[in-house]
Amino acid sequence: MNVCRAFWPPGVGRSTVIYLGAMLIALGVGAHGAVASDPAKTVGPNACGECHKQEAEAWKGTHHFKTFREMPRNTTANEIAKRMGVRRIKSESLCLNCHFTVQQKDSKEEPVAGISCESCHSAGQEWVKVHSGFSGKTEKTETKAEEQARWKLADSKGMIRPSALYQLAKNCYSCHVVPREDLVNKGGHRAGSAFDLVSWSQGEVRHNTWHSKGKDNVAASAPRKRMLYLVGLGVELETALRAVGKATVRKAFAFEMARRADRARNLLAAAAKAAPNVPEIAKMLEVAHSAGLKLNNESRLTSAADGVAKLIVSITEKYDGSTLAGLDGLIPGADKLKGTARQASAAK
Ligand code: HEC
Ligand code: HEC
Ligand code: HEC
Ligand code: HEC
Repeated sequence: MNVCRAFWPPGVGRSTVIYLGAMLIALGVGAHGAVASDPAKTVGPNACGECHKQEAEAWKGTHHFKTFREMPRNTTANEIAKRMGVRRIKSESLCLNCHFTVQQKDSKEEPVAGISCESCHSAGQEWVKVHSGFSGKTEKTETKAEEQARWKLADSKGMIRPSALYQLAKNCYSCHVVPREDLVNKGGHRAGSAFDLVSWSQGEVRHNTWHSKGKDNVAASAPRKRMLYLVGLGVELETALRAVGKATVRKAFAFEMARRADRARNLLAAAAKAAPNVPEIAKMLEVAHSAGLKLNNESRLTSAADGVAKLIVSITEKYDGSTLAGLDGLIPGADKLKGTARQASAAK
């Protein structure tokens, strides 16, 4: 299974995202779903929590945290595992990639937490010192140029920051679409859920307490929400197209993934109408419609997904959301938040 556990290679930046996309396909992530962080470079959430106390507290209130203890005890989990021939949920890799953070200790790989910091921000060993070191100075004495160089270096060592929207979204959808035919058809695992990047990131998952110095758990701004919405839909479409490409039998998985791709196309069509100043949305639809949502059509669906991915990346490069107010009416409102965001508690 190790070859299936891809990690962000060094040098990941916006310009390399396209190369990265190609590499992930080559590594079979399309088939297996999760983009898990590299166990050999994983430091674990306690190491992050030494400096990020409030973010860690917020995380402890989420399903991502609780799944570590609760999932293996869950009856449905044991039924799924049995059908998949998995005897021990916490030591066999089929469930590990999506439900746990795995860390290499000595020569053994051990699950150390549920879905944690590094499942979303990538394995930290090579970038923790860099991102937090203020270029060997202090927050006050580091120059702007040094700060920029520091972030560039952290990015190049694989860190996925809040500004790396496409990569952040790819991680969420690689788990939440559950793009694995066997797990769904044979295991009876749900084929993901009606995930939406705005409402699912701004509820219980939200932990924007660092830059406010712990004073507030800051909600994404209106322009950022527009970008989250659009990039999320694009990545949903990309992921679903790849998943349909992996479908080999006319069973639940094929239907669910095709339905997902179709739904994403319809929502993007509404977005294209609402934001005609973003021609990339219509192009995304054109590319997506070039491949039929049918069995045994992998090469066409994969190249359509690659085309969609390129357009999403170019959207993240060209727009910052300030000119996309047309989308506001489509974005799920506060009543749709998934869970409740933790209140900030003043001290960091
Ligand atoms: C030694 C203390 C320390 C540790 C350990 C640490 N961080 Fe940080 N982190 C910082 C500091 C300081 C900043 C803010 C730097 C700045 O604002 O320029 C930061 C900022 C961040 C940011 C925001 C980046 C941005 O673009 O705004 C993220 C995300 C982050 N850290 C994640 C993590 C994760 C994940 C871990 C564990 C793998 C971790 N940090 C471990 C000190 C630390
Ligand atoms: C591709 C990623 C992926 C893999 C692999 C995976 N899961 Fe899941 N699982 C999820 C996601 C995501 C959810 C949450 C449902 C959602 O929102 O999409 C979930 C939910 C569940 C739930 C329901 C949790 C609840 O609400 O009670 C159970 C049980 C479960 N998984 C068991 C398993 C078992 C057992 C395995 C291994 C045989 C496994 N999963 C493998 C991604 C995955
Ligand atoms: C499920 C994925 C996920 C997990 C798990 C996660 N993060 Fe984040 N993190 C994000 C996203 C997404 C954002 C940007 C949110 C937004 O735009 O509202 C973010 C933002 C941040 C920021 C910037 C906060 C600010 O004030 O702007 C820091 C720091 C951070 N994360 C650290 C951590 C640490 C430390 C952990 C573990 C205790 C962690 N994250 C766990 C996805 C995650
Ligand atoms: C490594 C796989 C993985 C990644 C990456 C991931 N999730 Fe999850 N997420 C899960 C699983 C598994 C569950 C179900 C946990 C459970 O209840 O047992 C879940 C549950 C959730 C829930 C709770 C859903 C509920 O039923 O209330 C939210 C919200 C959520 N995820 C949001 C996000 C967001 C937003 C991102 C990206 C920023 C993200 N997730 C990234 C695997 C993942």
